[in-house]
Amino acid sequence: MAQQNREPGQPKIRLEHLFFGYEKQFVIEDFSLEINDREFVSIVGPSGCGKTTLLNMIAGLLQPTQGQIWLDNIHPDHPGPDRTMVFQSDAVFPWYTVEQNIEYGLKATQKPRKERRETVDRLLHLVGLEADRKKFPRQLSGGMRKRVDIARAMALQPKVLLMDEPFAALDVLTKERLQEDFLDIWTSTPMTVVFVTHDLEEALFLSQRVVVMSRNPGRVEKVVNIPLIHPRRLVVKTSAEFQEIRRDLVEVMYAMHGGLEAR
Ligand SMILES: Nc1ncnc2c1ncn2[C@@H]1O[C@H](COP(=O)(O)OP(=O)(O)O)[C@@H](O)[C@H]1O
Ligand SMILES: [Mg+2]
Repeated sequence: MAQQNREPGQPKIRLEHLFFGYEKQFVIEDFSLEINDREFVSIVGPSGCGKTTLLNMIAGLLQPTQGQIWLDNIHPDHPGPDRTMVFQSDAVFPWYTVEQNIEYGLKATQKPRKERRETVDRLLHLVGLEADRKKFPRQLSGGMRKRVDIARAMALQPKVLLMDEPFAALDVLTKERLQEDFLDIWTSTPMTVVFVTHDLEEALFLSQRVVVMSRNPGRVEKVVNIPLIHPRRLVVKTSAEFQEIRRDLVEVMYAMHGGLEAR
């Protein structure tokens, strides 16, 4: 990885004038954003606007065609243990139990077994699956599998968690419970979260800032601060303040598609 000195106190992630094209056309064009250490940022935008592409670049799976990504003082040019991904589909092994799944990533580290067990115990507690540790994924609900998935991603204590529509496949009630629980996990863990979703309400509820992306080309359309205080409970979704921010954001989204009157 390319090393360069950077001043302390810099943002955790810096995306500087990013361009990316799979083929001739750019899908991401002049995308710039700074994300602070321990911040929770959501990225929302229509399907195909380049959200997954962007996460893959931060993960180091794709290289920008132009522009620079800084993660602390490095350019992520390959995946690393300092950042992990959670996807919509579960990345759990069906032949491993809950605890084996969580421990899997730790085996590659040189940590002694006792320490690994302690990490697994702590994560089981964090995601509320202590009683289910010996179960196999097929014995779990979708929401529980997602909890395993989150614990798995957190096993190496990543500084940055990259989440690509992680709750999109869950039913509404399960999804809302996980949103609340995941916020608690974030509050108690020193990590930066970049959360991609097409669900505006989810983005609003979870994050400190919401980045609205445009499509063709994928750019930053608007960045909105969400001043709701933490810890947040689900009931905040019914508050006037929440609904007001939601309305403003919906207008931004509609404006990108030709304005409300065009519908
Ligand atoms: N491997 C690929 N090869 C060519 N085009 C791709 C590839 N992956 C994504 N695209 C295109 O790039 C654009 C952005 O895709 P993506 O990042 O997956 O968007 P999102 O996650 O916002 O739905 C889309 O138009 C998509 O069709
Ligand atoms: Mg996507």
